[in-house]
Amino acid sequence: MTKQQQRNLLHDHVDMRMVVTELSDETGERNAIVQLDPDHPGFRDEGYRARRNAIARIAANYEPGLPIPDAPYTADEHQLWQTIRNALEPAHQRYACAEYLECVQKLELPRDRIPQLGEVSEKVQALSGFRLEPVAGLVQPRVFLESLADGVFLCTQYIRHHSTPLYTPEPDVVHEITGHAVTLASGRLAELNRLVGAAVRRTRSVDDLERLSRVYWFTIEFGVVREEGEIKAYGTGLLSSAGELEEMREADLRPLNLEAASSQEYDPTRFQPILFCADSFDAMYQKLREFLIQWE
Ligand SMILES: [Fe+2]
Repeated sequence: MTKQQQRNLLHDHVDMRMVVTELSDETGERNAIVQLDPDHPGFRDEGYRARRNAIARIAANYEPGLPIPDAPYTADEHQLWQTIRNALEPAHQRYACAEYLECVQKLELPRDRIPQLGEVSEKVQALSGFRLEPVAGLVQPRVFLESLADGVFLCTQYIRHHSTPLYTPEPDVVHEITGHAVTLASGRLAELNRLVGAAVRRTRSVDDLERLSRVYWFTIEFGVVREEGEIKAYGTGLLSSAGELEEMREADLRPLNLEAASSQEYDPTRFQPILFCADSFDAMYQKLREFLIQWE
């Protein structure tokens, strides 16, 4: 794979997860652990960067199977979670698919504080067998997607900067929990995630990995279905953004065709102008499941 291809792939990928390559134990330069862009909302906030580093350290030291240590969130950050939940909950009532709303009820996540990954992982695992594991930041698409085959979702643990409650330039614990963890509590969505991982594992060429990443994007991240004549979301990118949920009916809604989705370009930095919509949740489940099982 050339550098350019790799960069396109990362940039293309849903969460643009990258590898954290250096975790030095020198205490002098802890901010070096987490590289934030100068235009990141938390770039000038020393306290925020120190917390990001402490959280990155939890992930770096984490051994699969052991309990996940709690992240050191502040009162402001718990308040931030509440602010985001207050924006999302009414949007979910209107625009989330029934399968998602059932999972929300089963998980009973706290409203007034950020749930810790460990407690969420235990609940999800009891329902679908899927578990969460912390990652320091962004990981390569293949690593992220292949871990799904083992029923493991690699999860960031930090929360976005409090100055931008409804915006994050990277996946954060709100996207991971409100989007991915909740949907992974569904037996059927957990199965589809595992099948994506298994299909990625069978994929050798860069082009095919890109095609599969696009299928993941237009289903698991941005999928919609019809329910009783309404458009409802099961995609995690939609479900973790009140703004996207409001906009999704304005999108060019195309019938779910996974071949077409696999070659459809997208821009992760804006509201999605094209969405693929199945006639029902069942129809989506059958179609995606078959497509992934048959993927060579
Ligand atoms: Fe995501």
